[in-house]
Amino acid sequence: MCGIVGVAGSGRAQDVILEGLRRLEYRGYDSAGLAVMGADGAVTRVRAAGKVAELERRLDGRLEGGTGIGHTRWATHGEANDANAHPHRAGRVHLVHNGIIENFKALKAEIAAAGRSFTSDTDTEAVAHLLDMAVEDGLAPREAMLHVLGRLEGAFALAAVFDGEEQLVVGARRGAPLIAALGDEEGFLASDLMALAGRARRVAYLEEGDMAVVRPGSIEIHDRTGARVERPLAIAEASAALAEKGNHRHFMIKEIYEQPEVVGRTLAHYLDAVEGRVRPAEGVDFTTARRLLIVGCGTAAYAGQVARYWFEEVAGLPVQVDIASEFRYREPAFMDGDMALFISQSGETADTLEALRLCRRAGVETIALVNTPHSTMAREAGQVAPTLAGPEIGVASTKAFTCQLAALASLAVMAGRQRGRLEDAAETAHVEALMAAPGLMTRALDAEARIETLAHELTGASLVLYLGRNQFYPLALEAALKLKEISYLHAEGYAAGELKHGPIALVEDGVPVIVIAPMDPLFDKTRSSIEQVQSRGASVICITDPEGAAALEGEPARVIALPAAGRLGAPLVGAVAIQLLAYHVAVHKGTDVDQPRNLAKSVTVE
Ligand code: G6P
Repeated sequence: MCGIVGVAGSGRAQDVILEGLRRLEYRGYDSAGLAVMGADGAVTRVRAAGKVAELERRLDGRLEGGTGIGHTRWATHGEANDANAHPHRAGRVHLVHNGIIENFKALKAEIAAAGRSFTSDTDTEAVAHLLDMAVEDGLAPREAMLHVLGRLEGAFALAAVFDGEEQLVVGARRGAPLIAALGDEEGFLASDLMALAGRARRVAYLEEGDMAVVRPGSIEIHDRTGARVERPLAIAEASAALAEKGNHRHFMIKEIYEQPEVVGRTLAHYLDAVEGRVRPAEGVDFTTARRLLIVGCGTAAYAGQVARYWFEEVAGLPVQVDIASEFRYREPAFMDGDMALFISQSGETADTLEALRLCRRAGVETIALVNTPHSTMAREAGQVAPTLAGPEIGVASTKAFTCQLAALASLAVMAGRQRGRLEDAAETAHVEALMAAPGLMTRALDAEARIETLAHELTGASLVLYLGRNQFYPLALEAALKLKEISYLHAEGYAAGELKHGPIALVEDGVPVIVIAPMDPLFDKTRSSIEQVQSRGASVICITDPEGAAALEGEPARVIALPAAGRLGAPLVGAVAIQLLAYHVAVHKGTDVDQPRNLAKSVTVE
């Protein structure tokens, strides 16, 4: 979603902002802009529909000045054109904004009645006017922002500069992330730390409702009541190296290859390989839970669906998995003993966050499984269970997904232990199998050349079906999502047993059907699904293991044989193959792999 960068007093604001905007590109956007204050206190703004590269082309030379704001916009109100791009200007104020101002229509009517007019279709411009009107009434920037915040409804983050107010950027957050940071000399605002990688030294993670007044070397924070507050200044850990692709062509492939390492790191957080035990988790206790609600969006929700099989099987804990946008708008019937687990890479997804808040209000115990330790969900949930994937830049989630699976498998074993369902030997067997998974994922990466060859065949398809049973059913859903997201091919995932109830009607000569079926007790059932689609002309690719490959010998199905990884490890290993397949189809098709059209990395609006 939209990205914000602001800098006060660096002497080279344009460079800082452009670098920050490039680092925020991964969040997904469709226009970009910046505004820089010159030595005379006047602000110059440049905006462009399209990518940051287009903005750079339009920047005729270098804007001099040390203070400014920049923005990547993911259109919500008004199409993605130059006029709707941020910053928006009203009189003395330039403003960038992430999120939605819900009462913008009423505000615009009031502003128009005051004789002002608008040059864009955005909700943002109304806020710029309100700020300018407050300044016109004699308020200083800080007071103007505090005043205007009281008039706004919705979820947003803001950053503004004011004509003549050199070395000052003022920002605020309510429902969308914003950080304030200090560099060697400058002060910064940004929607995530990645934008400031290599520049920020210390960072304050603003809290809900906070407003920040940022100058070189100083950050002044006010809470939602307007009272001056202190927020901890943490060491800024994002390094510039994490935001680079290294030798890889895309972030996505870099992140696919990072998986053995980061999954191993995540597993080591939860599991003690030497003792063969799950580490005691601080505060996470499934002993008396009667039901586990798992909630997330997109890939995170699919990780939750895989985990349902594990929690039920290993820990005897009933699980209900929900998509956050549905969960938050129905009236979930809670019961005594409910626990709720929220899965999110960013920890900021608007629907998941609201679902978490709904559970908190209902008195349900909450756990956030997040990859971003300072995120809003991490702060608001009762307990935090981390994934240690490191920053994920590719919009299509890869390493965050497998780290979620790794953490969830560990938590399921922990729950089994806490609930008296697992003997020592069984616990050790699970721990050993999981600890072997990163090595097996490395071997799965060796299948890349074969997968790339098979990917060629999918490039021209108009439909790709994915089938799986049991824990491989949600993996089939994730596989179809990956392919859709980055190659724009129409792909659908189905439970193999559901095939006869509809999807088989889609099968005709040459339709690719990708079946995820390592050898397990259900293999023969899935195999009959393979035969059913093959006999109707489907071109089958089976992602399996050596035993499954041997069982399919002599069949027309093409096989991708991955190492056998056992019950909890197999989805981790299978994930590598489905990611590589989607990646190579997208590369063949020439799509924008890391920033697919219309998608955002972190969806902070509804
Ligand atoms: C967006 C991203 C997906 C992600 C989903 C949930 O749609 O493009 O990759 O799975 O949001 O994001 P979260 O940060 O909550 O895991």
